[in-house]
Amino acid sequence: MKGLILAGGRGTRLRPLTHTHAKQLIPVGNKPILFYGLEALAEAGIREVGIIVGDTQKEIEAAVGDGRSWGIKVTYIKQDEPLGLAHAVKVAQPFLKDSPFVLYLGDNLLLNGIKPFVEAFRSGKPQALILLTPVNNPSLFGVAEIREDGKVVNLEEKPCDPKSNLALVGVYIFQEDIFLAIEGLKPSWRGEYEITHAIQRLLDQGKTVLPFTVSGWWKDTGRPEDLLEANTIILDQIKGDVKGEIVESSVQGRVVVEKGAKITESTVRGPAVIGSGVFIKGSFIGPYTSLACGVRIINTEIAGSIVMADSCLQDVQPRIEDSIIGQNALVNTISTLPRSLKLTLGDHCQVELQKVDYY
Ligand code: DAU
Repeated sequence: MKGLILAGGRGTRLRPLTHTHAKQLIPVGNKPILFYGLEALAEAGIREVGIIVGDTQKEIEAAVGDGRSWGIKVTYIKQDEPLGLAHAVKVAQPFLKDSPFVLYLGDNLLLNGIKPFVEAFRSGKPQALILLTPVNNPSLFGVAEIREDGKVVNLEEKPCDPKSNLALVGVYIFQEDIFLAIEGLKPSWRGEYEITHAIQRLLDQGKTVLPFTVSGWWKDTGRPEDLLEANTIILDQIKGDVKGEIVESSVQGRVVVEKGAKITESTVRGPAVIGSGVFIKGSFIGPYTSLACGVRIINTEIAGSIVMADSCLQDVQPRIEDSIIGQNALVNTISTLPRSLKLTLGDHCQVELQKVDYY
């Protein structure tokens, strides 16, 4: 069995972070989302993995390399235009050949891996295996209608009037029949060749589509809260491991402090992950906070947040909460008059300031 990870697309929903970076490389728990998918494939015994890439190919290649860190062999497959998931699968046909394959959407997080589904596919040999999960907002996803006997009867992509609350999770397993089902598909209302429609075709042809309901799934729906939720889900699973230097500080609960990090005169409350080269002084960090490598936090309190590589927060008041800070950002306080805010913000940024009564 082979793996196909989709890491193309445009990532408009996660702007501004995706103005400059591939959405699949946004870190949660200090690890790019894409890496969780690679780990899941490797853990299920898959050794040959194709990665569909688009405009952000260079960045994805630099992060993943040849795949040896996961014990897999990675082949990069260029999709010139993000014309849809079915289009991406078609582009990968020369790589996949007649092998069954796991299709893994590179912006999805599935907490408990995919091993049982790969095993169920191997023993049941359906033409397709799909994963489903109940959601509150099914119109934002592919939606499955399931009969009482558990059979899938109908699939719709982002329906206005969903027939159930069962969303298609971004992990599928296919036999080569899917290529024939993709042939001749028409673009959907959003102008994409939908894998959901190709699976519906398998159903129409009387082929077996095996559904499984899963929990512990995450997918962005466009709000910063979604990323923070993913960070919380991941941090809830970590085990503490302190390798960095702790000086006159208190590290409480499950905290990962990587080698080369230094925490001085501070408190870190887990769960939290502190990357290598992080410097913390006179600060209170956590819970549910991920600080990527090279971050500096000085005289600042921060909780429930993600701070990406090489950013600096200094003398910030009040406490920073539920925030996502991109790479190389600087937030600091100056004490000179006049009292003012100086902002250099990229497109689509969001700043929420606390109302302060000065008089
Ligand atoms: O995440 C689950 C949902 O994923 C399913 O419920 C939907 O049925 C399925 O269509 C898909 O919907 P999205 O609209 O959320 O897919 P998105 O455009 O976010 O793309 C998913 C991944 O595939 C993402 O990593 C980008 C990549 N991609 C996307 C397109 C359209 C490609 O590599 N090439 C593409 O052409």
